[in-house]
Amino acid sequence: MRYFSQRVALRVTVAAAGVAGLLTVGLIGDWAVGAVHAPGDKALVEELEEAAKTDHEVSQQLHDERERQTLASVDRKDRARVAAWLLLVSGGVFVAAGKRFMALRPQRLPSLDRLVDVRFDTAAPAIGKRPRTDESGNGETPLEFVARLVEQHGAGREAAIPILQAIQNHYRYLPDEALRRVCEPTEITPAQIAGTSSFYAQFRRSPVGRHVVRVCHGTACHVAAAERITEELRRHLEIKDGNDTDPRRLFTIDKVACVGCCSLAPVMMIEEETAGRLTPASARQVLDALELRS
Ligand code: FES
Repeated sequence: MRYFSQRVALRVTVAAAGVAGLLTVGLIGDWAVGAVHAPGDKALVEELEEAAKTDHEVSQQLHDERERQTLASVDRKDRARVAAWLLLVSGGVFVAAGKRFMALRPQRLPSLDRLVDVRFDTAAPAIGKRPRTDESGNGETPLEFVARLVEQHGAGREAAIPILQAIQNHYRYLPDEALRRVCEPTEITPAQIAGTSSFYAQFRRSPVGRHVVRVCHGTACHVAAAERITEELRRHLEIKDGNDTDPRRLFTIDKVACVGCCSLAPVMMIEEETAGRLTPASARQVLDALELRS
């Protein structure tokens, strides 16, 4: 159906361009013919006017000639007006059909190899193990990490959001143990943490998978059966109801709003890479290939 529409759009574009071209040629040709005949017509009228001064029989001929030239001029203007309108319409059709054709044109997608060849971060460290030194600074323990955050942001209630953001960035979620350690030396209460972390969408209370798969559920993708993609991925990864991450913590499946490439619907993004025109089977294959590579 899409291929058919694309062909139709191409044909309409070409036809509109052809009509516009013919009209332009016709307009120019008509104007050129008039311009070529004008001096001769003028000379003929002057000649007849001169002759009519001495020969009254020529007067009728002069009258007929003037009438012929006037009618020819009026006809030419009418033709030009009609041609201009048709030119306008065909130009509009050309632009609209051309845009439609460009929108339906097959787009280059990254190859599967390219898609799965992305380098991802290693899995988030479990709480209790030593955090990654590149994020924590000096290979400090979680206790030291939280202590440093408190020192940096203060122990008042107003420090809750920056501290939670730092923990979220560090672990990619808010581990309960880290949150408990935040409450010990500060005025921040468990109730405040619970309220803040549930209010802001940026905070996660459960671990996130190594790869975050964002399945677009915007309007275009919804119409293109995005729900089937999500269902198939969740089924394939054995993600239980109420969870968004598979038991091995390899993948987190997120439903997101439009990611801005509706012409490729249905679409999913893995980190910064986009895969479009998916079917449930091809979406599953992308994840399988990614798992093999990682
Ligand atoms: S609706 Fe999915 S990319 Fe726009």
